[in-house]
Amino acid sequence: MGGFYLTCAIDYANGDPHLGHAYEKIGADVIARYQRMCGNDVRFLLGMDEHGQKVALEAAERGVEPQALVDAVSGRFQAMWGRLGISHDQFIRTTSESHHVGVRALIEAIFARSPDDFYEKAYEGWYCVGCESFKQDNEIIQGKCVLHPTRTLQWVAEKNWFFRLSAYSERLRALISETDFLGPRSRRNEMLALLDQGLEDISASRSRFTWGVPFPRASSDGETQTTYVWFDALPNYLTATGYPADSYSGLWPADLHVIGKDITRFHSIIWPAMLMAAGLELPRRVWAHGFVLLAGDRFSKSAGVRLNLDGAIDRFGADAFRYFLLREVPFDSDGNFAWERFEERYNADLANAWGNLASRTISMIDRYRDGVIPEGGDSAIDAADEADFSVYHENMNGASGYMLHDALKAVWRAVARGNEFVDRQAPWKLATDPSAAAELDRTLGSLALQLARQCVHVAPFMPERAEELWRRLGAPGSVHDQRFASSGALDPAGWAVTKGAPLFPKEPK
Ligand code: MSP
Repeated sequence: MGGFYLTCAIDYANGDPHLGHAYEKIGADVIARYQRMCGNDVRFLLGMDEHGQKVALEAAERGVEPQALVDAVSGRFQAMWGRLGISHDQFIRTTSESHHVGVRALIEAIFARSPDDFYEKAYEGWYCVGCESFKQDNEIIQGKCVLHPTRTLQWVAEKNWFFRLSAYSERLRALISETDFLGPRSRRNEMLALLDQGLEDISASRSRFTWGVPFPRASSDGETQTTYVWFDALPNYLTATGYPADSYSGLWPADLHVIGKDITRFHSIIWPAMLMAAGLELPRRVWAHGFVLLAGDRFSKSAGVRLNLDGAIDRFGADAFRYFLLREVPFDSDGNFAWERFEERYNADLANAWGNLASRTISMIDRYRDGVIPEGGDSAIDAADEADFSVYHENMNGASGYMLHDALKAVWRAVARGNEFVDRQAPWKLATDPSAAAELDRTLGSLALQLARQCVHVAPFMPERAEELWRRLGAPGSVHDQRFASSGALDPAGWAVTKGAPLFPKEPK
């Protein structure tokens, strides 16, 4: 048992939360809840990226001050995370004073430890406000950034502070190719290919632009520049620990950064290089998930493809939405959001499979055993479930990467096994035969045990529905206080079940 410090990308505060933001936070929340149920002391950080041109531009377009914009937007993001049951422990905003202090301290630490790593240089190139970065020729098609085709590229010519990223190529190559620092494999290969092309130094500050953290050192002509937004955003993971106060080392390094694939280079190349330059420990792992697409298209504010997040959650509730996204969109690659699939999965996996197993089991215990779970078990089922749960753990704890969809598939194999067991045992027939009383006990007891175990494993994904089923099974305390290590020893015999409305009603209100 130990600490587990988990982070997500901090979202740009230039618009409302969308499906892509939600997908990432839900995935990371599942990992945070899982780690808590492993008995680890979890710190789960979310936040907002509130500086940079993208935010300043949006504020200007709306005719409001940037601070007023980010205050409003960050409130809406936090409300959305509440609605989705995200269990973060901390919410950082890059406009906070403590973050500014931390960023400046980190830059000073780089100046102190690696004085050659910052230098001044005149530079010109195409800047994409969507990416908040300069673009190479091969990232531009027909005059537009390939990732943000609706935005106009800006030609920027200025003298900036530069960071000597190129000096870190070999150390980064070793980090990425020889350790499991970066996953999944597809992203690792992509970053190694980037390293093969050679790294260019990057700008660390911007001139004539003030919405950000003032760069701590004036340039040779006396100008105070503004820290480049990624140089301010990436350190949020560190400043959230209280850095530079000594106590930061109680949390740092982070165990896992969960991010989207479009920002892999920032997290697996630029961020570790900054930390190396400052002589600080590196995060242990970076996991770059894929994209949720809408009808095959990239989904984001700047790509102009939208879906109303509140409407999608309203359809079947937050837990079903969490389940659907993580079951449908593999956590290592892209996947589509489609309403028909949402309905199909809701009906097949939730209403007809898990919900039905739960309601059949509880009503039979109610009817045939006065609502008290009898002693029972089935060693063949226990062994098969155990095998599925160990697949679940490998995909949840990072041993096989964070393939959350595969973890869910494994639990749903156990659910299918439970429904087959009911059909095979036909408890309603056993109930008509007094000589089969012991077999009926064994069957109902086994079903309750199966459900209780499923509940524990589902809890990180559907925290509210799992808790409700736990309560209906008459299990003590909260399912979220269960520990996987002891879930094998669960013994529901004697618990008093409560019938209730379907966990996943077929015709939602
Ligand atoms: N502010 C930067 C991150 C700084 S982290 C130090 C940023 N913000 S963002 O708002 O554009 O994106 C936030 C996260 O959402 C990123 O991890 C991004 O990959 C993710 N997603 C944005 N659209 C997405 C999808 N359509 N699908 C899945 N995730 C996507 O980048």
